[in-house]
Amino acid sequence: MPLPFAHVSRRTILTRSAGFFGLIMSGFFTSASFAALLIKPTPRQALGPFFPDDGDEVNSIRENPDPNLPISQANDQDLTFVKGLKGKAQGQMVYLSGKILDEKSGQPIPDTTLIMWSASASGRYNHKGDEGTYSFPHPKTGKMIHRTHDPYFQYWGKAVTNQQGEYWFKTIVPGFYPIDLKSGLFRPSHLHFKILSPKTPSFVTQLYFRGDHIPNNALNQELLPKDVVILDAGLTPEEQERVIVDYAPDPSGKMKDELVGHYNFVIPG
Ligand SMILES: [Fe+2]
Repeated sequence: MPLPFAHVSRRTILTRSAGFFGLIMSGFFTSASFAALLIKPTPRQALGPFFPDDGDEVNSIRENPDPNLPISQANDQDLTFVKGLKGKAQGQMVYLSGKILDEKSGQPIPDTTLIMWSASASGRYNHKGDEGTYSFPHPKTGKMIHRTHDPYFQYWGKAVTNQQGEYWFKTIVPGFYPIDLKSGLFRPSHLHFKILSPKTPSFVTQLYFRGDHIPNNALNQELLPKDVVILDAGLTPEEQERVIVDYAPDPSGKMKDELVGHYNFVIPG
């Protein structure tokens, strides 16, 4: 892939850089507007039909017994097991962390609630509305895939950002699933998010997976341009890139079983 400045001479870059940094040094940009120049907002995407609402779940998972809490917020941020059950969720484990940032100021937003939900490793939601095709042939190998419930997967969880605006989740790579087998439309593996910040009452989006270590990932990347929800949302290819997260083994070696990914949500101003 050519570098963004491949067509610009080194001298031009130096001249432009000097002018740009000159403007910064002269105070032309405030720190807020400078930050805003560097970050782009996370594109909004559809909520989808499987948001965890009370009464919609097939198997109730409520680690927090407070009856006043909506079920979407009743669980913690580690989705790889369910408290009280002796078993681990199926699938490739991933650790996702990052910050919630404000687009206008570029500053982290503390005390922000993130609700994350997804399908199981075989692509089935813990939701009564997920009653589509339960089994389908893998579009590449022809091997049958059975979308099943995983009793040890937590399906949804909640995280709250700290004073630095940081969050983390531990989960699994959900399965991809068909939307329309006749037309060959699938949804690639994805995580859903609803973000409730003090400034923004509800920001909804989805994140996708890139990384050599994720099972079926080549297929996922092939599916992404055909993703009907992304197309419906009218995202440009550049905006699609902004919702794909790279996952790789932990460079520190501390996490042996999880792939790690990093993502900063930038909440539109
Ligand atoms: Fe989904």
